[in-house]
Amino acid sequence: MKLSVSILNIDYKNIEKNLNDIIDDIDYVHLDVMDGVFVKNLSFGPALIKSIRPLTEKTFDTHLMIINPEKYIKDYVDAGSNIITFHVEATGDVLGTINLIKSYNVKAGLSIKPNTEVNAIKEFLPYLDMVLIMSVEPGFGGQKFMENSIAKAKELQELKKKNNYHYEVNIDGGINNETIKKVKDYLDVCVVGSYIVSDKNPKEKIELIRNA
Ligand code: DX5
Ligand code: ZN
Repeated sequence: MKLSVSILNIDYKNIEKNLNDIIDDIDYVHLDVMDGVFVKNLSFGPALIKSIRPLTEKTFDTHLMIINPEKYIKDYVDAGSNIITFHVEATGDVLGTINLIKSYNVKAGLSIKPNTEVNAIKEFLPYLDMVLIMSVEPGFGGQKFMENSIAKAKELQELKKKNNYHYEVNIDGGINNETIKKVKDYLDVCVVGSYIVSDKNPKEKIELIRNA
């Protein structure tokens, strides 16, 4: 299982040091973009992503929690994203947005909120490089893990195997050394945020996740 660390709750004042401290121990950097409309919070946009791009060659896993993501894909490509994930609930043109992302040679991911079933994205699964299951209501880090995400991860792995799809199954929200045990068998990637970046000893927390 790969580890994608969300920097949403990192201490931005010391972002370079804080990122450098963990970068060798993680697989992806998860970048949570929020527009205050699709979710009830604002975070950062392409400028911040661009400014930290020179710090590492690791995969930038950008998670767009914005309405009409198709309008902004190019900005997040230009900022240096390697994977761009958007929400099925956020656009009327899901396939067009997937194709747009791929046209830039960037991997395309699709995310579902806790109340959205896997069924809602079934038709898009053949085209996806990642499926991101939200295990909290998107908008904030540090929330409680929602158990209904477990069955979705299992279902997505079964569909992948049966149909020879290639997407990575990823989960996002409320992951710590306990909750990870409930889902890790069904994941290719997991996003971890505050459990790691809000801790005084992030390297130790990474170890605990990896060994769970
Ligand atoms: C929530 C974000 C998540 C979140 C993860 O809207 O998409 O990536 O910040 O943070 P934790 O692990 O603290 O739930
Ligand atoms: Zn996220």
